[in-house]
Amino acid sequence: MATRRPFFCGNWKLNGSIAESLALATNVRNGVATLRAADVVVAPSFTALHAVAKRLEGGSSGPVAVAAQNCHFEDKGAFTGEVSASQLADVGCKYVILGHSERRQLFGELDAAVNLKARAALRAGLAPIICVGETLAERDAGETLGRITAQLDAAIADIAEADLARCLVAYEPVWAIGTGRTASPAQAQEVHAHIRASVARKFAGVAASLRILYGGSMKPDNVRALMAEVDVDGGLVGGASLQAESFVRMIKEGS
Ligand code: PGA
Repeated sequence: MATRRPFFCGNWKLNGSIAESLALATNVRNGVATLRAADVVVAPSFTALHAVAKRLEGGSSGPVAVAAQNCHFEDKGAFTGEVSASQLADVGCKYVILGHSERRQLFGELDAAVNLKARAALRAGLAPIICVGETLAERDAGETLGRITAQLDAAIADIAEADLARCLVAYEPVWAIGTGRTASPAQAQEVHAHIRASVARKFAGVAASLRILYGGSMKPDNVRALMAEVDVDGGLVGGASLQAESFVRMIKEGS
């Protein structure tokens, strides 16, 4: 079985001034400075990306990289208010979170747009973190795995095997995000295994090394049980990533 390096991304959502973001990023960097067992990423708001990326780059700064929380699917043009993947690469991002359920639910983002964005990110040299997840109504109706397959297939359509190898997938059950209600390790494992099997049907070579993150009320006290599942490779963490202490403790517990 492939050994997959644990990966933790703090999704700061719409939080933080530049000064607050720099302080949080610096504390995360210092907290994980001696940790070599995991990839650690922070995803500030657009306005703080450049400053945070500069603070974290190079030297003895340790292993923390920067992600954006969204991008547009065109590289440039008349798209007022949008930010392109190449602009994100230009300010120092290595990753971009795409298709988060808040984007899907609150901003009407469709599967087709997630696919266009993932392809734009790959063109710009960014690694997409593609989010999928079912609502509570879909889970209660027994539609979880079908919904996940539909979102995943749409998101990775027309992506070549070598490019898919640069992507990550995050399983984020909508009912677990920001609710304090975490999926049980068994519930997470069922969906993560399903995602890996779906990818394997298309690209057997990539599936074993694909890192599949869990997201939805991941905390220092539940990370160990989730990470003990064979197909859970890390976390996309909202609330618990806004305090350096809890984010660092979670990464250490889970690595
Ligand atoms: P949460 O958010 O950890 O606050 O539940 C996770 C996410 O939305 O990525």
